[in-house]
Amino acid sequence: MNRPLVPENIRSLSPYPPGKPLKELERELGIGTAIKLASNENAFGPSPLAVAAMAGALAESHRYPESTVFYLRQRLARSLGVAPAQLVFGNGSNEIIELLIRTFTGPALQHEPARGVLTAATTFVVYQLVSQAHGSPFKSVAMRPDLSLDLDGIAAAVDDETALIFLCNPNNPTGSTFDKAALESFLDRIGPGPIVAIDEAYYEFLAPENRLDAIALIEGRPRTIVLRTFSKAYGLAGVRVGYGVSDPELISYLDRVRQPFNVSLIGQVGAEAALEDAAYLERVVADTRAGLAEIASRLALLGCQPYSTEANFVLFDCRRDAAPLYEGLLRQGVIVRPMKGYGLPTFLRVNVGTADENARFLSTFEAVYRGVV
Ligand SMILES: Cc1ncc(COP(=O)(O)O)c(C=O)c1O
Repeated sequence: MNRPLVPENIRSLSPYPPGKPLKELERELGIGTAIKLASNENAFGPSPLAVAAMAGALAESHRYPESTVFYLRQRLARSLGVAPAQLVFGNGSNEIIELLIRTFTGPALQHEPARGVLTAATTFVVYQLVSQAHGSPFKSVAMRPDLSLDLDGIAAAVDDETALIFLCNPNNPTGSTFDKAALESFLDRIGPGPIVAIDEAYYEFLAPENRLDAIALIEGRPRTIVLRTFSKAYGLAGVRVGYGVSDPELISYLDRVRQPFNVSLIGQVGAEAALEDAAYLERVVADTRAGLAEIASRLALLGCQPYSTEANFVLFDCRRDAAPLYEGLLRQGVIVRPMKGYGLPTFLRVNVGTADENARFLSTFEAVYRGVV
């Protein structure tokens, strides 16, 4: 039989849009320095303590990393106030998302009905990409008019096929948040059936009074998992460390599926050291919040509509086709994230950079917006 090379679910996948490497853009444009404010990275870099620890570990690179992530697990469990067995680590929280989908969802098998994924329509695109790659049914629920998650709508969409729900808070790319009361009533409403993953990749950027303490909700709700990462506020995106906090039984199933050495030696050491530098984290968060406020207020002055956000990025409506604005920025060496793929053709998303990068983005955007360049 002449079987197609790949199954249909893989053939029809659109790959995650990675964005151009900075050096490539600089070479193509023949310009000195381009800036990338498109992947919600932390422009301030990791803590010097983390850098020193990682540098010290380089000479051990011939060793496999600690498979159980022993030291980071102990350190993080202590700082979160959970048991070490409640933690799972991944090659970024992306891997935990993938592990959840691979472990708990899938197409119908001979003796088992399909197990699907449910989430919001305008949210982190990886939930959908991985579901499709894995052949799991995927369903999404329209956003509210203010582009926040419609928790009532998501709860109403739960059916017998729903095995795993992703709620992103703050939500990428819209920046919206929900509060603890809303989450609790959502969890009460859907009951003990589906697993609920609360993706808090941007948690540390939230003002303390707006943090949900979702981890406390796991107590008594063993099908809830909270996802966090060292990629954003801790500035360690390049070494790929994320984690999940849940009930030990749920964690044990993820552990069966994950690869034994999935978190690099350098990442483990860097993350552990980063946890020691609370002052650095605090400064990064303060500088990020200040940058965000500046960017949002200048965009509003220009006539754009920035959406309220507590992450390290802001989504804004340019109130006109954003494609020429995106291209105009790119020609000047400023990379942001277009939102057409999310069905928001008049929107762009930009993340906070250093003070210099923010100033360059703002002056370039203003010039492009006014048609001066
Ligand atoms: C909402 C959300 N979750 C998860 C991730 C994955 O981050 P990482 O794999 O670097 O931990 C991202 C990255 O942009 C994100 O925006």
